[in-house]
Amino acid sequence: MENTCIWPHKDYIDVNQLTPELANYLMDLAEQFRQVNNRQVKKVPTLRGRSVVLFFSEDSTRTRTSFDMAGKRLSCDTFALGKSGSSLNKGESLKDTALTLQAMNPDVIVIRHSSSGAPKFLADRLGCSIINAGDGWHGHPTQALLDLFTLRRRWNGEFKDKELLIVGDIAHSRVARSNVDLLTMMGVKVHIFGPSTLMPAGVETWPVTVHKKFKEALEGKDAIMCLRLQQERMRGGLLPDLSEYSNTFCLTPELLRLAKPGCLVMHPGPIMRGMDLSAEIADSVESTILEQVNAGVATRMALLMALCTRNGQEISE
Ligand code: NCD
Repeated sequence: MENTCIWPHKDYIDVNQLTPELANYLMDLAEQFRQVNNRQVKKVPTLRGRSVVLFFSEDSTRTRTSFDMAGKRLSCDTFALGKSGSSLNKGESLKDTALTLQAMNPDVIVIRHSSSGAPKFLADRLGCSIINAGDGWHGHPTQALLDLFTLRRRWNGEFKDKELLIVGDIAHSRVARSNVDLLTMMGVKVHIFGPSTLMPAGVETWPVTVHKKFKEALEGKDAIMCLRLQQERMRGGLLPDLSEYSNTFCLTPELLRLAKPGCLVMHPGPIMRGMDLSAEIADSVESTILEQVNAGVATRMALLMALCTRNGQEISE
């Protein structure tokens, strides 16, 4: 695999570090890794000898597993550390835990943390590369990359004039924030719809169209991204009644018929069947949910490779 790395950043903290050129560079690289992932031997020697720490102080299934697989398929050594089982539970500060990890000379620390800004805090202090795997409500920039990769494949690289609707708990969603910024940058028109109590403060400054009615919001859409209610981040009183929520905001086959024929249905997972989207939709041909999971490994391989080979080094297999 020949590649001249154009990636310029030590860290990947926020989608605002990307340009369309950089995003396409990562997507092209991810496409090559997708093919590696379909082989019987799913491993390349590209990053042999590199060390990646997976530091997840919040729960994760997809993101942590796919980073672990991505590292291993590039021949990196990966080391997982969670909040329970680490000295964060004994009161050690984030800075001291991070300095401790850095003293073991990792090349990359992938961090998920409940505080917005935790990855940036580490990136400013540590010499190794930091990847944001989700920080509080702020951002989930690798989710946005894998969603972009999924759409790029489904839309044959055409983003202009495409319209995507994000539905649900926008206020607490780092996935929504990162996707709005990246998809808008790539030329997609983004729309949002959800309960008024779950709209983010300052939404009028977002580059999106905010809808008040589901049926109107669905008209003419090429893709719908459903989100989970992030009840673990909610203060009381935002949603008086969950069954009323699902009656109004759950995507059903009847509602989906109002969007464009062939409209894609996305979800970052974990999905709540019957709450965010109906079980029929989750299992339908329009659903890209498992494609997104599949894309997660390839895009994270691309990102790890970009960070580890930046400064224009030639890498060849
Ligand atoms: C999301 C997250 O953690 O922000 N999940 C994920 O990484 N795929 C969304 C969620 O938890 O609802």
